[in-house]
Amino acid sequence: MAGILGYWAIFWAFIVLATDTCTCVRHSLLEGCEDLWLDEQDRKLYAACNSLESCKGWSPGGNLYNISARSYTDHIAVIDVDQPGLDGLYGLRQLKISGYQDDLDLHGFDVRKIEGRLWFWLINHRPPIDHVTGEFLDALVVGANSTVEIFDLDKASDTLEHVKTVASKAIFTPNSIAVEEDSLGFVITNDHNTKTGTFCDLEMLTGGGSLAYCRSDTGKCYITADKGFSIPNGIAYDKNGYYYVANSASGLITVHKFVNNELIQVQSINTGYPMDNLWLDADGNLIATVFPDSIALVESSMDLYNIVAPATGLTINDIAK
Ligand SMILES: *[C@@H]1O[C@H](CO)[C@@H](O)[C@H](O)[C@H]1NC(C)=O
Ligand SMILES: *[C@@H]1O[C@H](CO)[C@@H](O)[C@H](O)[C@H]1NC(C)=O
Repeated sequence: MAGILGYWAIFWAFIVLATDTCTCVRHSLLEGCEDLWLDEQDRKLYAACNSLESCKGWSPGGNLYNISARSYTDHIAVIDVDQPGLDGLYGLRQLKISGYQDDLDLHGFDVRKIEGRLWFWLINHRPPIDHVTGEFLDALVVGANSTVEIFDLDKASDTLEHVKTVASKAIFTPNSIAVEEDSLGFVITNDHNTKTGTFCDLEMLTGGGSLAYCRSDTGKCYITADKGFSIPNGIAYDKNGYYYVANSASGLITVHKFVNNELIQVQSINTGYPMDNLWLDADGNLIATVFPDSIALVESSMDLYNIVAPATGLTINDIAK
């Protein structure tokens, strides 16, 4: 199996390659990585990363809204997973950006191959701006201005070229994203019911969150499921039309299918652990990244540089067959 076993959200950049041995690659370009995508054919791993300093201040998904703490270092890092190189950094580099003037404040992302090229759908949590004065609005009050940015990768020049922005009221607290086979439809997880406020903090206990369905061509989105979630985080899509959603707070992976325009829940899998992202590998196994020690997780989130919370990857075999 060639897949990703484990990593954790905004803490230490830590990549485990699933060969017979595990390798840890540490570098500032791999700090604060929230999501990964493995090109199983071309053997490249893409990661959406940032810096720990920035994550500590500006992480709308974690209710952190200090705009001035942002380090403006969000980027997509790439490594060649089979070629460690002399320095052991696996050819680590950062993709360039073209045709997009605004900032990137990355979170989850997904990638599809279209006619031999890779297209990226990136969740972007920019601070809100008053379009008249150009000044920042109070993000504690209005929340982030979260959008989905679509890019087309020019592999020869390692450059992401901007295609379009999808902005919608249905994309309010996006966390992760799964693009369908046709590369037009996509589903995002909203990890909370509201952008900001007291209820937002309470949702860790009370549950909450939703799924939004969007079209890349029209840019239109709507809420397609909003019951029974508990901080929906990672999402994966399989060719048979099933969506798998990792509910961080309850430890349940809920399985959904479209009936008319609604993503109804058809099954759930109890992992028993707080979860982050999901990955469906080429063999149809679902891999969930989980935190076996909740107390260490909370401690680590308060002291990112010194406390490393354990993380592990669970594999659920043959789910998509
Ligand atoms: C916000 O971040 C800036 C820059 O890191 C820091 O100086 C400031 O103290 C932070 N503000 C709050 C309220 O934490
Ligand atoms: C949010 O982003 C959209 C898309 O880039 C932009 O048109 C809009 O003005 C932004 N709104 C705020 C409040 O920042």
